[in-house]
Amino acid sequence: MNHKVSPSLLSANFANLAADINMLNHSEADWLHIDVMDGVFVPNISFGFPVLKYVAELTEKPLDVHLMIVSPEKFIKEVKALGTMMMNVHYEACPHLHRVIQQIKEADMKAAVTLNPATPVAMLTDIIRDVDMVLIMSVNPGFGGQKFIEHSLEKVKELRRLIDSTGSNALIEVDGGVNLETGEKLVKAGADVLVAGNAVFSAPDPQEMIHRLKALK
Ligand code: DX5
Ligand code: ZN
Repeated sequence: MNHKVSPSLLSANFANLAADINMLNHSEADWLHIDVMDGVFVPNISFGFPVLKYVAELTEKPLDVHLMIVSPEKFIKEVKALGTMMMNVHYEACPHLHRVIQQIKEADMKAAVTLNPATPVAMLTDIIRDVDMVLIMSVNPGFGGQKFIEHSLEKVKELRRLIDSTGSNALIEVDGGVNLETGEKLVKAGADVLVAGNAVFSAPDPQEMIHRLKALK
């Protein structure tokens, strides 16, 4: 299966979101990655549901919503109302992760769990068959444009082994510091979905960058 590319709206021009969303609609992007932050779980605040309502109306791409917030289960209804395809919660934010994953699925969304850089892949052993995707954070969450943590490659390989040995169908997504160089290594290590913010939006031609990220082998 070819890997997917999910550009992160966090690096877009927030005063001109319609133009950037329109650009992505006409690109080879597979999904639109949406980073919601609360200033508590991560040391930054991005955007919330009043803004995302309009983003959701404009985008033609399936929404890949990454919640960097405490108690994400409180917002399942709001996330669903956007028409979200994939709802992504942090392992570190969910003491009752199994319940949250079931609630997301009951709301008819795909369910993903995200691991911070310091959280081992082995923590997912008992939930890997229940999730549709695992997101490996390859930077500490909260900001775009950070440097890729090289150890993430080992985590992707380990996760690939866990998925293959358990018969799980989970996709592997990687988020943070993804560019053409780290993206190529990630695809070789077994990543199914590349998130890219800065690499796309700081490129002279963002659509061409998405094309090149899609073409990595
Ligand atoms: C960081 C966010 C990322 C961010 C990635 O907390 O989860 O999705 O937008 O940005 P880049 O690709 O610039 O590292
Ligand atoms: Zn993200």
